[in-house]
Amino acid sequence: MEEQWRQTDDYIVEHQLGPDDELAATLARNTAADLPAIDVSRTQAELLAILVRMSGARRVLEIGTLGGYSTIQLARAVGPEGSVTSVERSLHHAEVAADNLVAAGLQDRVEVQVGPALELLTEMLDEPPAPFDFVFIDADKENSPEYFMLTRRLCRGGATIVVDNVVRHGKLADPEAEDPGTIGNRQLLTITGNDDSVQATTIQTVGAKGWDGFTIAIV
Ligand code: SAH
Ligand code: DHB
Ligand code: MG
Repeated sequence: MEEQWRQTDDYIVEHQLGPDDELAATLARNTAADLPAIDVSRTQAELLAILVRMSGARRVLEIGTLGGYSTIQLARAVGPEGSVTSVERSLHHAEVAADNLVAAGLQDRVEVQVGPALELLTEMLDEPPAPFDFVFIDADKENSPEYFMLTRRLCRGGATIVVDNVVRHGKLADPEAEDPGTIGNRQLLTITGNDDSVQATTIQTVGAKGWDGFTIAIV
C-alpha cells in the first residue's frame, strides 16, 4: 500500500506540480546537514500554500521550522507584502532553514525565532504582535493542544489554524496507543470539538509520508 501511495504522490508531482528547484535544494541541504526527513510532503506543502492564499492570509505563524521546507511554501503564498514568523527550538535546524530561505530569496519576509515554542509564545502574548491570519502547528505533538490555545490568542477572529500529524498511522484512534504525542492529538480533537466558537475537522491523508492527517480549524 505505502508503495502505491508514494507512486501516486510522485505522479502528482510529475504531472501537476512540476519541478521546484528551491524545494529540491532545501531537501538536499537538510539531508547534508543531518536533519530528519520529517518535512511535509510536496503535495502537502502545496496544500498549505493554497490554504494561505484561499484565506487571504498576510501574517502567518509556524511552530516547528525544521529546514524551512513548509516555511518556503508559506512565505511564497503570503506574497511580497506578507510575513511568516516561524518558531524552532533547535539552533542547528534554524541555521539550516536560514540558508534555505536565503537561497530561495525569501529571507526578507520570514523571521525564524529560536527557542522552545511554549516560551516564545508566552513572550509573544506578553507583547502581542499584529494578529496572525494563519497558523501552522508542526512541532512536538504532545504540546499541539497548548500551541493551539496559545496561538489562537495571537490570531484575529476567523483565522485558520492547521495542525500536522494528528492521525499518525491510526494511533489517534488506537486504544493501545498511549504515547504523549497521541494523547496530545486526542486532546486537540477534544478542545476543538468542545468549543462552539471553533469550527474544526480532521482529514486523514496518505502519500509519500505514509498514513497521517491534519486538523484544520477556523477560530
Ligand atoms: N514544518 C517543518 C517540519 C517541522 S519538524 C516542515 O514541514 O518542513 C518539527 C520541528 O519542530 C523540528 O525541527 C523540531 O526541532 C521542532 N520542535 C520540536 N519541539 C519543539 C519545541 N518545543 N519548540 C520549538 N520547536 C520544536
Ligand atoms: C515527526 C514530526 C513531524 O512533523 C512529521 O511530519 C513527521 C514525523 C516526528 O517527530 O517523528
Ligand atoms: Mg509534520
